[in-house]
Amino acid sequence: MTDTLTIRRPDDWHLHFRDGDIMRGVVPYTARQFARAIVMPNLTPPVTTAALAAEYRDRINEAVPQGVKFTPLMTCYLTDTTDPDDLARGFADGVFTAAKLYPANATTNSAHGVSDVAKLYPVLKQMETDGIVLCIHGEVTDHDIDVFDREAEFIERYMRSIVRDFPQLKIIFEHITTADAVKFVEQSSPNIAATITPQHLHINRNAMLVGGIQPHNYCLPVAKRELHRLALRKAATSGSPKFFLGTDSAPHLRGDKENDCGCAGIFGAPYALESYCTVFDEEDALEHFEAFASLNGPAFYGLPANEETITLDRAEVAVPEELDLAGQTIVPWHGGQTIGWRIAG
Ligand code: DOR
Ligand code: ZN
Repeated sequence: MTDTLTIRRPDDWHLHFRDGDIMRGVVPYTARQFARAIVMPNLTPPVTTAALAAEYRDRINEAVPQGVKFTPLMTCYLTDTTDPDDLARGFADGVFTAAKLYPANATTNSAHGVSDVAKLYPVLKQMETDGIVLCIHGEVTDHDIDVFDREAEFIERYMRSIVRDFPQLKIIFEHITTADAVKFVEQSSPNIAATITPQHLHINRNAMLVGGIQPHNYCLPVAKRELHRLALRKAATSGSPKFFLGTDSAPHLRGDKENDCGCAGIFGAPYALESYCTVFDEEDALEHFEAFASLNGPAFYGLPANEETITLDRAEVAVPEELDLAGQTIVPWHGGQTIGWRIAG
């Protein structure tokens, strides 16, 4: 039995940092584990230009604890009016690493998202030409589509045509939650990949809805049936280069989750690596953990893997029920539970 695992330092390929005091409170949790992170742009107002992204990056860098090496990788929030030249220049200047497509109103702060994918075609053409990665929140938002079907429907309505019309475009199907998405990604060309969150590997929708409503297990896309969780676990732990780590850590204060209209999002950052490692251990697939956490993501983005390493030990870790965040309270993913791995040192 493996009790200690040393892997290259991982990166988080999907993360929400927010801004202001909350951002300053959450950045250290990520920087403790990860060398880089793809920072999502759904602020209010959203990060829609290279100038806004460069300023946001500066604010994040100021929040990184002294002596810790961490690089935020910025994304452009795509809208119906995104300027392809600003995006291309921002990418060429090293400000943008990727661009994020939120269908309008799909999730937190996505009101400015894309109302019609067809309007984005000139931008997607530019991205395909320049090799800019497109990160997609793949859910349709039409009210007549059941919330549990929104990801599968997005594949049929949009994913297939985007992939067909831009065959060289690098696309990441973000935070996939269904066997349908796993199958779509597996059957697509190598320039189509997916991130998978820890929560979608650990829970199915019962964790949100059985025994009383459990707002801390609510995120978007929502967790689905058990068969989907099992398909995600199989994909993540398979060793396939198409699947990699993206926590979708999305901090909301306890009061905003435990609310008449509770926010979607799980604060996965504090024990993210330990959470994923537990899954790989349960699946008897620790030999594939480094690929998922530290190699597949950089390879897809065309970036070098990190040189430094990180070591995990098998150990019982009691995750606190809540954490202080900017003088307020937040519930971390696994809050009040015990997980089987810890970061050594
Ligand atoms: O649950 C979610 N929370 N899903 C998202 O796509 C966005 C995120 C947030 O920003 O809170
Ligand atoms: Zn997200």
